[in-house]
Amino acid sequence: MKKALAVVVGVLFCFHLANAKTAEPAPSPASFSPTPAPAPAPDYVNLTDLLSVAGPFHKFLSYLISTKVIDTFQDQANNTEEGVTIFVPKDGAFSSQNNPSLANLTDDQLKSLLLFHGLPHYYTLADFAQLSLSSPVSTFAGGSYSINFTDDSGTVHMSSGWTHTKISSSVHSTDPVAVYQIDRVLLPEAIYGTDIPPTPAPAPAPDISPAADTPSGTTEAGSIASASKNDALPKLTVSRTKLLLGPLLGLLLLI
Ligand SMILES: *[C@@H]1O[C@H](CO)[C@@H](O)[C@H](O)[C@H]1NC(C)=O
Ligand SMILES: *[C@@H]1O[C@H](CO)[C@@H](O)[C@H](O)[C@H]1NC(C)=O
Ligand SMILES: *[C@@H]1O[C@H](CO)[C@@H](O)[C@H](O)[C@H]1NC(C)=O
Ligand SMILES: *[C@@H]1O[C@H](CO)[C@@H](O)[C@H](O)[C@H]1NC(C)=O
Repeated sequence: MKKALAVVVGVLFCFHLANAKTAEPAPSPASFSPTPAPAPAPDYVNLTDLLSVAGPFHKFLSYLISTKVIDTFQDQANNTEEGVTIFVPKDGAFSSQNNPSLANLTDDQLKSLLLFHGLPHYYTLADFAQLSLSSPVSTFAGGSYSINFTDDSGTVHMSSGWTHTKISSSVHSTDPVAVYQIDRVLLPEAIYGTDIPPTPAPAPAPDISPAADTPSGTTEAGSIASASKNDALPKLTVSRTKLLLGPLLGLLLLI
């Protein structure tokens, strides 16, 4: 009987210890104060700044500045609800752009060609599936300066008649400004005519960098992960107490 009592006392003591142990993490969820909502992204995006650090897009940027088309795009970004979407060819696209060349364009034609690289509305990558159904889509250059989009299971292909290219990465995509990298300079039929020479061999596959997508997705995933961690903690404590309690009760009954 004494022995049994000793066991009971021992067991109770163990239980107390276990409880004390499990009680410890209980207040910790409070220390995980709810993650504050991410600060809203500032509305103003300095396009000159953005294009000078990303890329390299120096060639396109210098054309935008010399034709003052940068002001048109920046004004649209600053002052409209619609926002703006800009397709930006990398520097390499200009050096391989020989035939036809940009060299012989008049100032007005060059300006139109640059405006042709912008849409007067903010579009996410996901929006292009819908846009491909309403192709041809008017660009900033207006009139017959339009682009056809095709969504190929998430890859956005675009055609200006002369140029077939695709969005190879997302440089910036936060309402109201979307900037997407493309592999070629978009040549409009409205300038170069519809007498397009047949495409020879398919162009070599350009570098694909789909990884450079919106970082906001990861932030969201991160906060979800930490939120579920908060939830999991108290549950874990409860189940641990139950786990200890079961065998202890069984032991007591045995005695
Ligand atoms: C935008 O960025 C460019 C280049 O970094 C800078 O020269 C210019 O002053 C900036 N404009 C504004 C309005 O902040
Ligand atoms: C855009 O907004 C910035 C910051 O408010 C301003 O400095 C710049 O002049 C604006 N540019 C245009 C074209 O509206
Ligand atoms: C540009 O124009 C010049 C003179 O008119 C001509 O000699 C040259 O071949 C043209 N270049 C292209 C690429 O069309
Ligand atoms: C765009 O699509 C329309 C109709 O779908 C077609 O008539 C037109 O030729 C296409 N234009 C280009 C540049 O691919």
